Amino acid sequence: MRKSVVAAALAVAALSGIASARADDAPPPWAWGFTTPPPGTLQAVPAPATGLDNSTLLSLPASKLSFTRAQIANPFGPADWFPDDHPTMPDVVAHGRQSAQPQIWACGFCHYPNGKGRPENASVAGLAYEYIVQQLIEFRSGARKSSDPRKANTAQMAGFASAMTDEEIKAAAKYFSSMPATPWIKVVESETAPKTRGSNGMFLTLAGADAGTEPLGQRIIETPVNADETDIRRNPRSGFIAYVPPGSVKTGQALVENGVTASGGKVTACTACHGLDLRGLGPVPRLAGRSPS
Ligand code: HEC
Ligand code: HEC
Repeated sequence: MRKSVVAAALAVAALSGIASARADDAPPPWAWGFTTPPPGTLQAVPAPATGLDNSTLLSLPASKLSFTRAQIANPFGPADWFPDDHPTMPDVVAHGRQSAQPQIWACGFCHYPNGKGRPENASVAGLAYEYIVQQLIEFRSGARKSSDPRKANTAQMAGFASAMTDEEIKAAAKYFSSMPATPWIKVVESETAPKTRGSNGMFLTLAGADAGTEPLGQRIIETPVNADETDIRRNPRSGFIAYVPPGSVKTGQALVENGVTASGGKVTACTACHGLDLRGLGPVPRLAGRSPS
């Protein structure tokens, strides 16, 4: 299991060799599953889903609880399938703050109550308290933004941080830094990936007659192990698979441990700052097990 945690970080590093070879600092499309920059202009900041079914109860085999789709997607109190998996959530993590300007959605809605997060946001479990506080303050001040200005949920995240009180920042940071980072993304080196469709910033594998595989090329395709459990039920125990080009993990290992880039250049080994086990060092964030995209 340990191997796959580290592999996710190594795969990112392998491909970062390609990124640094780019002339500008535009976001590398391959990291988000595209061969060329995706078309489109600024996305609208997502609004809470409306009109979802609020009568049929859905369940998960391992949970005693059941929720409707509307309850699962309620940004001010989303489903908590496994309350025994985590300590009591601070109010801002469980409910956000509807009266805030702009409104703050429950952190647990996007990052999950266990902080493991999804490819379109971030894994916040097991990050250092100081690091989480720093990121929230920098989202708030505008110092942290996405390299792709079209990524609307980064702006949304910054909006939440701008409305958070210092007390809420401290409570959320204390909570998420206490959650353990355990394996969540399995890295698979492959020439091909399952055929997928884009859905709210995520790739979901196609089912039925549309299912199949396609060439991966130099892309990373990250997709839920179980599209239904992630997309519809938001199961915080159902993780992801990252398809990466063959050789990525080995190339990444050379960069991460020895600072040798894909083109044979030399940089400071990532482990020097991120820790020998890549699980973070003081305020420097953990890379092990993070989403490659
Ligand atoms: C609508 C979904 C959404 C909600 C709700 C949300 N976030 Fe985020 N969060 C994001 C996204 C997207 C990013 C990644 C932004 C980027 O860098 O592009 C992020 C990133 C972060 C990061 C940075 C992680 C890192 O590795 O640097 C922290 C910390 C964080 N969020 C904390 C919170 C807290 C605390 C709350 C609750 C107040 C919260 N988030 C609510 C979507 C969300
Ligand atoms: C000189 C120290 C240093 C080295 C060497 C270093 N990093 Fe970092 N890295 C940091 C610090 C500090 C941050 C947090 C930056 C911030 O948010 O202000 C960071 C942040 C990151 C993040 C963002 C994580 C998140 O939570 O969003 C990634 C990804 C990352 N580094 C990857 C790498 C890789 C890959 C390498 C090796 C090629 C590397 N780093 C080498 C210091 C370092």
